[in-house]
This record gives sequence, structure tokens and C-alpha cells, in this order.
Amino acid sequence: MYESYDPYDATWRDDPYPVYRALRDERPVHYSAASKSWCVSRHEDVEYVFRHPELFSSKTQEFLMPMESRNLIKGLGVAARFMWRMKTGPRSMRNSRMLIQEDGEIHSTMRAFVNRGFTPRTIAQLEKRTTEIVAGCMDGVRGRDTFDVVSELNIPLPVTVIAEMLGVEPKDRLRFKRWSDDLVRQASNPVQGLAKEMIETMGEMHDYMQPIVAARRAHPIDDLISTLVTTEGDAALSDFEVFFFIVLLLVAGNETTTNLLGNAVDALLGHPEVLDRVRVDPGLIPALIEETLRWDSPVQCITRRSVREVELAGTRIPAHAKVIVILGSANRDERRFPDPDRFDLDRDTRGHLAFGVGKHFCLGASLARLEARVALEAFIPELAQLERVRPEREFLDSFIIRGRANLELRRTG
Ligand code: HEM
Repeated sequence: MYESYDPYDATWRDDPYPVYRALRDERPVHYSAASKSWCVSRHEDVEYVFRHPELFSSKTQEFLMPMESRNLIKGLGVAARFMWRMKTGPRSMRNSRMLIQEDGEIHSTMRAFVNRGFTPRTIAQLEKRTTEIVAGCMDGVRGRDTFDVVSELNIPLPVTVIAEMLGVEPKDRLRFKRWSDDLVRQASNPVQGLAKEMIETMGEMHDYMQPIVAARRAHPIDDLISTLVTTEGDAALSDFEVFFFIVLLLVAGNETTTNLLGNAVDALLGHPEVLDRVRVDPGLIPALIEETLRWDSPVQCITRRSVREVELAGTRIPAHAKVIVILGSANRDERRFPDPDRFDLDRDTRGHLAFGVGKHFCLGASLARLEARVALEAFIPELAQLERVRPEREFLDSFIIRGRANLELRRTG
């Protein structure tokens, strides 16, 4: 079955783990003709790709374009439409850096700069507010016989935290969530011709954010956008780069954390003995979070581009090819984690790749861990009296993000 593996194919969404195992055993670097990509599935090789940016570049913009736009004329048409909608020109576009798609010095300089908005101190200060947001969500479900934990807690928590970090008005949070959903959906389905829709979504966001960015530049306050705009020298971000970074935070920070929470709750429902242990000893929640990240990684795949021809696990990957590293498989690799399909609170999860590794290691990892811990500390005591409304599970249709579209629960007592 692994011969026909195609990361974009929805066939694998419900349970990709058997095909991952077959790939690791039989064809650790597999060429998927349908998606024109080289799929890397073993832990050792995935880590190698992450740690060798000189061989595997993060400049993968063109792969985000729908296949049918990847000829010169259509590609130029898409670029022109984008610039028109963003009210910008080719020069400003060409000079705009996007953290996650930069390599080398440019990436390091930018990363050192944006790190200032995510210091351990900044994140620790968010705990109090995160606790309040979680408490508000829990108030909303208290006394209800059935509710969907995805829509009541897992979705609103990260979107509210990021929106507040960015200074978005409470009344606009729902729009923010819609933009975030749309962008993840559009980026996850690059074969479906979504470029037009993606440009429109980014255009709406740009119309909304640009006045906020301009206001912070004129009068900085104590928030993330002010941190991003108040700098001088090489690291200074243009308005457009600040906007790109905001888009990145939305795409990288919301859906991921939402699904870490959903995957943890789902794992607990399937492992009542683990639920009992974390309920009695909440000190085990950080271990639960790490094992969930490993066992059912919210980000399953990351894309790179080969800089030149390179050999990996005995297979030659040509130059300038799309390389998809399957984190979800690397984290289940028996060569790295013994008995990898077992959900085990006591295992040594160090070395899991759920947040990537190397230069692009997730900027929001501590924030995601904080949100997940605070949410699970509040929710786990309730979970012991809850069960699934329906046995079947509906997964998101995305090759990047793995998670449950909903998790409806009902009280048992
Ligand atoms: C469970 C939650 C999360 C998971 C599983 C996750 C996963 C990842 C992964 C795998 C990467 C590496 C991408 C690459 O190498 O190309 C990454 C990068 C990144 N993440 Fe996260 N992420 C999560 C939460 C967050 C949050 C909450 C934020 C911010 C609010 C965030 C912001 C970023 C940014 C900005 C990058 C790019 C870093 C760079 O290129 O230097 N992430 N994340």
C-alpha cells in the first residue's frame, strides 16, 4: 500500500500510522508522483533534513501555489493579483522576508528579533490571563449535558491568546478565527486552486491589520506589534513583513494548539488508565502533553526544497525538488522510540520532532505548552464524568494538521 502513498490523499487521514510504518520499513524516502514530492519518514532522516538547511531550504513558497498556477504566465497572474489586493508593488514584495521561509543569515537575524516577543518572561506573564480565558470557556460548558470541547475550549483558547497578544478587539475575534481557518485550509490543499481565495483572505486581514500596525509605529504600547515595529537597523521589519509575521502566527499558532488539545483529550478518552493517573496527579500533565505531541503530532508534515542533488537513506533526491518530512511518522519510529504505537506516560519523549528541530524550531512551543497545561489542568477533572456522544471520529481534512474536527461529549453522572 505504501507504493501509492500520497501525502495530499485523504485516504490516509483517519489512521496514517500503518502506512507510515510501511514507508519507514520499505521505502524511507518515497517519491509520490501525484504530489511530485519526496516523502521522508524515518526519525533519523527527518532530523537530518531539519538540521541541514544548506541542503534542504525553507524557501518553499512556490509549492504553496496551486499546481495549475505553476507555469510562468499563470504564476505572474497570481503574483499581480496579490500585489493589487495588498496595495503593494513588486519591490516591496521582493524585499519582504517571511520568517518560516527564510534561510541562513536572514532567518537568524529575523528570528533573533522576533524572539523578543516570545521570551520565557513574556510567556510566563501570559499564564494568569490564559487561566482566566480557560475559566471563561469552562463556565460556558458547566451544567450542560452535552457540548463539543473543540468549539468550546480548544478553538477559542489559542485564538483569544494570539488576538490579545496582537491587540485585536474582542468583537473581531471571530473574524480572526475565520481568517486563520481559511488560511490553514488553503495552505493545506495546494492542489485545489485556492490561490484566489487565499489572496482575498490575506487582503481582508491586511485591510484590518494595517491601521493597527501604523498606529503602533506612531505610538508604541506594551504589546507584540509594538515590539515588532520598534526597532532599527538590519532587523527592522517593514509594515509588510510585520503583516506576514502576523499571518504566520495565525496559521502556525492556532490550529496547532487547538489540535494538540483535541488529540490529548481523545487520547485520554481512549486510555482511561492514563486519565485516572493524570486526574489524581496533575503534575503528570506536562508528560501527557509531550507524549501526545509524539504519539499524535498536530503537525504531521513540513515541506523543504532540496538545494542540490542529495542522497538520503540510499535514495537520490534531485535538485530543487519538493521534500516532505513526515513528523507524524518520525515520532512513531521504532528505531527511536521503543513500542512507538503505545501511548505511554512514562516514556522518554525527548527527541520528538513535533515542534521541528534546528534553526526553525517552533517559536511558540512554550506558549503552546503553557496553553495546553492550563487548559488540561482545568478540563481533566471534568473529563472523568464525560464520554463521547458518538464512537466514530471525524478528522480534519489536511495533510499538514492532524486533529479531530469535533469532540462531542456527554455527562455520565
Ligand atoms: C502544539 C502546537 C504547535 C506545534 C505542534 C507547532 C509546530 C511547529 C513546527 C513543526 C515548526 C517548524 C517549521 C519548520 O521547520 O519549517 C514550527 C515553527 C513555528 N511555529 Fe509552531 N507549533 C505550535 C504552536 C505554535 C504557536 C502557539 C505559535 C505562536 C503563537 C507558533 C509559531 C511558530 C512560528 C513563528 C514558527 C516559525 C519559526 C521559524 O521559522 O523560525 N507555533 N511550529
